[in-house]
Amino acid sequence: MPLKVLVTAQMPEQWFDPLKRAGHDIVLGKGLLDHDELVEAAREIDAIVSVLTDPIDAAVLESGARGSLRVVGNIAVGYDNIDVRRAAELGISVCNTPGVLDAATADVAMFLILACTRRASAAEYALRSGAWTGWGLTNLLGSDLEGSTLGLVGYGRIARAVERRANGFSMRVLHHTRHDSGQSGYVADLDELMTESDVISVHVPLTPETLGMIDARRLRLMRRGGVVVNTARGGVVDEDALAGALESGELASAGLDVYVGEPHVAARLLATPNLVLLPHIGSATWGTRSKMALLACEDVCRVLEGRTPKNPIHA
Ligand code: DGY
Repeated sequence: MPLKVLVTAQMPEQWFDPLKRAGHDIVLGKGLLDHDELVEAAREIDAIVSVLTDPIDAAVLESGARGSLRVVGNIAVGYDNIDVRRAAELGISVCNTPGVLDAATADVAMFLILACTRRASAAEYALRSGAWTGWGLTNLLGSDLEGSTLGLVGYGRIARAVERRANGFSMRVLHHTRHDSGQSGYVADLDELMTESDVISVHVPLTPETLGMIDARRLRLMRRGGVVVNTARGGVVDEDALAGALESGELASAGLDVYVGEPHVAARLLATPNLVLLPHIGSATWGTRSKMALLACEDVCRVLEGRTPKNPIHA
Protein backbone atom coordinates (compact mmCIF):
# COMPACT_ATOMS: atom_id res chain seq x y z
CA MET A 1 0.00 0.00 0.00
CA PRO A 2 1.47 3.44 -0.90
CA LEU A 3 2.29 5.69 2.04
CA LYS A 4 0.60 9.06 2.28
CA VAL A 5 2.70 12.22 2.56
CA LEU A 6 1.15 15.63 3.21
CA VAL A 7 3.12 18.42 1.53
CA THR A 8 1.69 21.52 3.20
CA ALA A 9 3.10 24.28 0.97
CA GLN A 10 2.63 24.78 -2.73
CA MET A 11 5.89 24.37 -4.61
CA PRO A 12 7.24 23.32 -8.03
CA GLU A 13 6.67 19.60 -8.56
CA GLN A 14 10.36 18.81 -9.00
CA TRP A 15 11.00 19.99 -5.42
CA PHE A 16 9.17 16.95 -4.07
CA ASP A 17 10.54 14.58 -6.68
CA PRO A 18 12.07 12.18 -4.09
CA LEU A 19 8.56 11.47 -2.77
CA LYS A 20 7.24 10.76 -6.28
CA ARG A 21 10.20 8.54 -7.14
CA ALA A 22 9.60 6.53 -3.98
CA GLY A 23 6.01 6.00 -5.14
CA HIS A 24 4.38 7.78 -2.21
CA ASP A 25 0.88 9.10 -2.42
CA ILE A 26 1.26 12.89 -2.17
CA VAL A 27 -1.46 15.00 -0.59
CA LEU A 28 -0.90 18.63 -1.50
CA GLY A 29 -1.99 21.34 0.94
CA LYS A 30 -4.22 23.93 -0.70
CA GLY A 31 -2.17 26.97 0.31
CA LEU A 32 -1.22 27.18 3.95
CA LEU A 33 -3.26 24.96 6.27
CA ASP A 34 -4.46 26.37 9.56
CA HIS A 35 -4.05 24.55 12.84
CA ASP A 36 -7.41 22.72 12.76
CA GLU A 37 -6.81 21.59 9.18
CA LEU A 38 -3.41 20.24 10.18
CA VAL A 39 -4.91 18.32 13.12
CA GLU A 40 -7.53 16.86 10.79
CA ALA A 41 -5.06 16.03 8.02
CA ALA A 42 -2.49 14.48 10.38
CA ARG A 43 -4.90 11.64 11.23
CA GLU A 44 -4.81 10.30 7.68
CA ILE A 45 -1.14 10.41 6.73
CA ASP A 46 2.25 8.78 7.31
CA ALA A 47 4.45 11.85 6.90
CA ILE A 48 4.32 15.64 6.73
CA VAL A 49 6.61 17.86 4.70
CA SER A 50 6.06 21.13 6.56
CA VAL A 51 7.21 24.73 6.39
CA LEU A 52 8.05 27.08 9.26
CA THR A 53 4.58 28.65 9.28
CA ASP A 54 2.91 25.29 10.05
CA PRO A 55 2.20 24.97 13.78
CA ILE A 56 3.10 21.31 14.32
CA ASP A 57 2.19 21.30 17.99
CA ALA A 58 1.17 18.55 20.42
CA ALA A 59 -2.41 18.46 19.06
CA VAL A 60 -1.23 17.87 15.48
CA LEU A 61 1.31 15.25 16.57
CA GLU A 62 -1.14 13.44 18.84
CA SER A 63 -3.72 13.36 16.06
CA GLY A 64 -1.04 11.92 13.76
CA ALA A 65 0.04 9.37 16.37
CA ARG A 66 -3.54 8.08 16.62
CA GLY A 67 -3.12 7.24 12.95
CA SER A 68 0.19 6.33 11.37
CA LEU A 69 2.26 9.55 11.34
CA ARG A 70 5.95 8.63 11.46
CA VAL A 71 7.91 11.67 10.37
CA VAL A 72 7.80 15.44 9.93
CA GLY A 73 10.35 16.93 7.51
CA ASN A 74 10.49 20.69 8.07
CA ILE A 75 11.69 22.73 5.07
CA ALA A 76 13.73 25.05 7.31
CA VAL A 77 16.77 24.92 9.52
CA GLY A 78 14.74 26.40 12.39
CA TYR A 79 12.14 24.13 13.97
CA ASP A 80 10.56 26.28 16.66
CA ASN A 81 7.21 25.64 14.89
CA ILE A 82 7.38 21.96 15.96
CA ASP A 83 6.93 20.50 19.43
CA VAL A 84 9.99 18.26 19.09
CA ARG A 85 9.75 16.96 22.64
CA ARG A 86 6.17 15.71 22.13
CA ALA A 87 7.19 14.25 18.77
CA ALA A 88 9.99 12.28 20.46
CA GLU A 89 7.61 11.01 23.15
CA LEU A 90 5.23 9.83 20.43
CA GLY A 91 8.02 8.21 18.42
CA ILE A 92 7.59 10.61 15.48
CA SER A 93 10.85 11.64 13.79
CA VAL A 94 11.51 15.30 13.01
CA CYS A 95 14.07 16.45 10.42
CA ASN A 96 15.25 19.87 9.25
CA THR A 97 17.39 21.27 6.42
CA PRO A 98 20.72 22.60 7.74
CA GLY A 99 23.66 23.54 5.53
CA VAL A 100 22.02 24.30 2.21
CA LEU A 101 20.77 27.76 3.22
CA ASP A 102 23.91 29.11 4.87
CA ALA A 103 25.14 31.17 1.92
CA ALA A 104 21.74 32.65 1.01
CA THR A 105 20.98 33.61 4.62
CA ALA A 106 24.47 35.01 5.20
CA ASP A 107 24.05 37.09 2.03
CA VAL A 108 20.90 38.64 3.46
CA ALA A 109 22.58 39.30 6.83
CA MET A 110 25.46 41.01 5.00
CA PHE A 111 22.97 42.88 2.81
CA LEU A 112 21.23 44.20 5.95
CA ILE A 113 24.56 45.19 7.51
CA LEU A 114 25.41 47.18 4.38
CA ALA A 115 21.91 48.65 4.04
CA CYS A 116 21.99 49.79 7.69
CA THR A 117 25.47 51.26 7.73
CA ARG A 118 24.97 53.03 4.39
CA ARG A 119 21.39 54.12 5.16
CA ALA A 120 20.09 52.54 1.96
CA SER A 121 16.38 52.58 2.87
CA ALA A 122 16.42 56.22 3.98
CA ALA A 123 18.41 57.18 0.88
CA GLU A 124 16.04 55.41 -1.49
CA TYR A 125 13.05 56.89 0.29
CA ALA A 126 14.53 60.39 -0.08
CA LEU A 127 15.00 59.84 -3.79
CA ARG A 128 11.58 58.28 -4.46
CA SER A 129 9.73 60.88 -2.39
CA GLY A 130 11.35 63.77 -4.23
CA ALA A 131 13.23 64.95 -1.12
CA TRP A 132 16.61 64.48 -2.79
CA THR A 133 17.72 67.85 -4.10
CA GLY A 134 21.12 66.77 -5.37
CA TRP A 135 24.50 65.54 -4.21
CA GLY A 136 25.51 67.03 -0.86
CA LEU A 137 28.81 66.80 0.99
CA THR A 138 27.15 65.89 4.26
CA ASN A 139 23.99 64.25 2.94
CA LEU A 140 22.99 60.78 4.13
CA LEU A 141 26.33 59.95 5.67
CA GLY A 142 26.68 56.41 6.96
CA SER A 143 29.49 54.57 8.67
CA ASP A 144 32.46 52.59 7.34
CA LEU A 145 32.57 48.82 7.58
CA GLU A 146 36.33 48.66 7.12
CA GLY A 147 37.97 48.41 10.52
CA SER A 148 34.67 48.21 12.40
CA THR A 149 33.79 45.30 14.67
CA LEU A 150 31.10 42.74 13.89
CA GLY A 151 29.80 40.69 16.81
CA LEU A 152 28.16 37.40 15.87
CA VAL A 153 25.65 36.08 18.40
CA GLY A 154 25.91 32.34 17.78
CA TYR A 155 28.62 30.66 15.73
CA GLY A 156 26.93 28.00 13.68
CA ARG A 157 27.19 27.54 9.95
CA ILE A 158 25.28 30.69 8.99
CA ALA A 159 27.27 32.89 11.40
CA ARG A 160 30.52 31.50 9.99
CA ALA A 161 29.34 32.25 6.46
CA VAL A 162 28.63 35.84 7.59
CA GLU A 163 32.13 35.97 9.10
CA ARG A 164 33.68 34.98 5.74
CA ARG A 165 31.76 37.75 4.02
CA ALA A 166 32.64 40.31 6.72
CA ASN A 167 36.33 39.39 6.38
CA GLY A 168 36.04 40.44 2.74
CA PHE A 169 34.88 43.85 3.96
CA SER A 170 37.91 44.10 6.30
CA MET A 171 35.79 43.98 9.45
CA ARG A 172 37.13 42.66 12.74
CA VAL A 173 34.87 39.72 13.63
CA LEU A 174 34.09 38.47 17.15
CA HIS A 175 31.62 35.77 18.13
CA HIS A 176 29.83 34.52 21.20
CA THR A 177 28.43 31.04 21.89
CA ARG A 178 27.56 29.23 25.12
CA HIS A 179 30.48 26.84 24.64
CA ASP A 180 33.99 27.96 23.80
CA SER A 181 34.37 27.61 20.03
CA GLY A 182 38.15 27.42 20.41
CA GLN A 183 38.35 29.78 17.43
CA SER A 184 39.96 33.19 17.36
CA GLY A 185 37.46 35.96 18.05
CA TYR A 186 35.61 33.96 20.71
CA VAL A 187 34.09 36.11 23.46
CA ALA A 188 32.77 34.16 26.44
CA ASP A 189 30.48 36.89 27.74
CA LEU A 190 27.63 38.14 25.53
CA ASP A 191 27.63 41.48 27.39
CA GLU A 192 31.28 41.96 26.40
CA LEU A 193 30.44 41.16 22.77
CA MET A 194 27.73 43.84 22.84
CA THR A 195 30.16 46.38 24.34
CA GLU A 196 32.91 45.60 21.83
CA SER A 197 30.82 45.56 18.63
CA ASP A 198 29.77 48.24 16.19
CA VAL A 199 27.45 45.78 14.47
CA ILE A 200 25.66 42.83 16.08
CA SER A 201 24.29 40.03 13.88
CA VAL A 202 22.03 37.41 15.46
CA HIS A 203 22.41 33.71 14.50
CA VAL A 204 20.92 31.59 17.28
CA PRO A 205 17.77 29.47 17.15
CA LEU A 206 14.71 30.54 19.14
CA THR A 207 14.62 28.53 22.36
CA PRO A 208 13.47 29.36 25.91
CA GLU A 209 17.12 30.36 26.60
CA THR A 210 17.44 32.74 23.64
CA LEU A 211 13.97 34.33 23.87
CA GLY A 212 14.51 38.08 24.39
CA MET A 213 18.28 37.55 24.67
CA ILE A 214 19.01 40.90 22.99
CA ASP A 215 17.05 43.04 25.44
CA ALA A 216 17.06 46.70 26.49
CA ARG A 217 19.94 46.25 28.95
CA ARG A 218 22.15 44.54 26.37
CA LEU A 219 21.29 47.07 23.67
CA ARG A 220 22.39 49.84 26.03
CA LEU A 221 25.82 48.17 26.25
CA MET A 222 26.47 48.87 22.57
CA ARG A 223 28.41 51.91 21.43
CA ARG A 224 26.25 54.88 20.45
CA GLY A 225 25.57 54.58 16.74
CA GLY A 226 25.62 50.78 16.76
CA VAL A 227 23.73 48.53 14.36
CA VAL A 228 21.72 45.36 15.09
CA VAL A 229 20.78 42.82 12.42
CA ASN A 230 18.52 39.81 12.95
CA THR A 231 18.05 37.07 10.35
CA ALA A 232 17.44 34.26 12.88
CA ARG A 233 14.08 34.42 14.67
CA GLY A 234 12.16 37.52 15.76
CA GLY A 235 11.80 36.48 19.39
CA VAL A 236 15.55 36.55 20.06
CA VAL A 237 15.51 40.38 19.93
CA ASP A 238 13.16 42.36 22.17
CA GLU A 239 11.40 44.37 19.43
CA ASP A 240 10.12 47.11 21.75
CA ALA A 241 13.57 47.62 23.25
CA LEU A 242 15.05 47.75 19.75
CA ALA A 243 12.52 50.36 18.60
CA GLY A 244 13.25 52.38 21.76
CA ALA A 245 17.01 52.29 21.16
CA LEU A 246 16.48 53.47 17.57
CA GLU A 247 14.05 56.22 18.57
CA SER A 248 16.44 57.57 21.21
CA GLY A 249 19.40 57.46 18.81
CA GLU A 250 21.37 54.99 20.97
CA LEU A 251 21.44 52.76 17.90
CA ALA A 252 22.02 54.24 14.46
CA SER A 253 20.12 51.59 12.60
CA ALA A 254 18.82 48.04 12.61
CA GLY A 255 17.93 45.47 9.97
CA LEU A 256 15.31 42.77 10.48
CA ASP A 257 14.29 39.83 8.33
CA VAL A 258 12.33 38.09 11.09
CA TYR A 259 9.61 39.15 13.53
CA VAL A 260 7.64 38.07 16.56
CA GLY A 261 4.23 36.83 15.37
CA GLU A 262 4.94 36.86 11.61
CA PRO A 263 3.46 37.97 9.29
CA HIS A 264 2.29 40.68 11.68
CA VAL A 265 4.95 43.36 12.12
CA ALA A 266 4.60 45.60 15.18
CA ALA A 267 3.32 49.09 14.30
CA ARG A 268 6.18 50.62 16.31
CA LEU A 269 8.72 48.90 14.06
CA LEU A 270 6.93 50.01 10.90
CA ALA A 271 7.02 53.60 12.16
CA THR A 272 10.77 53.59 12.90
CA PRO A 273 12.58 55.20 9.96
CA ASN A 274 16.13 54.00 10.60
CA LEU A 275 15.08 50.37 10.44
CA VAL A 276 15.51 48.22 7.31
CA LEU A 277 12.71 45.66 7.12
CA LEU A 278 12.60 42.54 4.95
CA PRO A 279 9.80 39.94 4.93
CA HIS A 280 11.71 36.80 6.08
CA ILE A 281 13.56 36.21 2.80
CA GLY A 282 16.85 34.91 4.24
CA SER A 283 16.78 31.65 2.30
CA ALA A 284 14.55 32.86 -0.53
CA THR A 285 16.46 31.98 -3.69
CA TRP A 286 15.33 29.41 -6.25
CA GLY A 287 18.46 27.33 -5.76
CA THR A 288 18.37 27.36 -1.96
CA ARG A 289 14.67 26.74 -1.50
CA SER A 290 14.75 23.83 -3.97
CA LYS A 291 17.68 22.25 -2.08
CA MET A 292 15.83 22.71 1.21
CA ALA A 293 12.66 21.07 -0.13
CA LEU A 294 14.59 18.16 -1.68
CA LEU A 295 16.54 17.59 1.55
CA ALA A 296 13.35 17.48 3.63
CA CYS A 297 11.66 15.11 1.17
CA GLU A 298 14.71 12.82 1.01
CA ASP A 299 14.79 12.51 4.79
CA VAL A 300 11.05 11.80 4.91
CA CYS A 301 11.63 8.99 2.39
CA ARG A 302 14.49 7.60 4.49
CA VAL A 303 12.34 7.43 7.61
CA LEU A 304 9.42 5.86 5.72
CA GLU A 305 11.84 3.21 4.39
CA GLY A 306 13.02 2.48 7.93
CA ARG A 307 16.39 4.13 7.37
CA THR A 308 18.13 6.78 9.51
CA PRO A 309 17.48 10.36 8.35
CA LYS A 310 20.45 12.60 7.54
CA ASN A 311 19.22 15.55 9.56
CA PRO A 312 17.28 14.30 12.57
CA ILE A 313 16.32 16.72 15.34
CA HIS A 314 16.99 15.38 18.80
CA ALA A 315 14.65 16.77 21.48
C1 DGY B 1 14.90 28.65 8.28
O1 DGY B 1 15.22 27.76 7.51
O2 DGY B 1 14.72 28.46 9.48
C2 DGY B 1 14.78 30.01 7.70
O3 DGY B 1 14.26 30.92 8.59
C3 DGY B 1 13.97 29.95 6.42
O4 DGY B 1 14.36 31.03 5.68
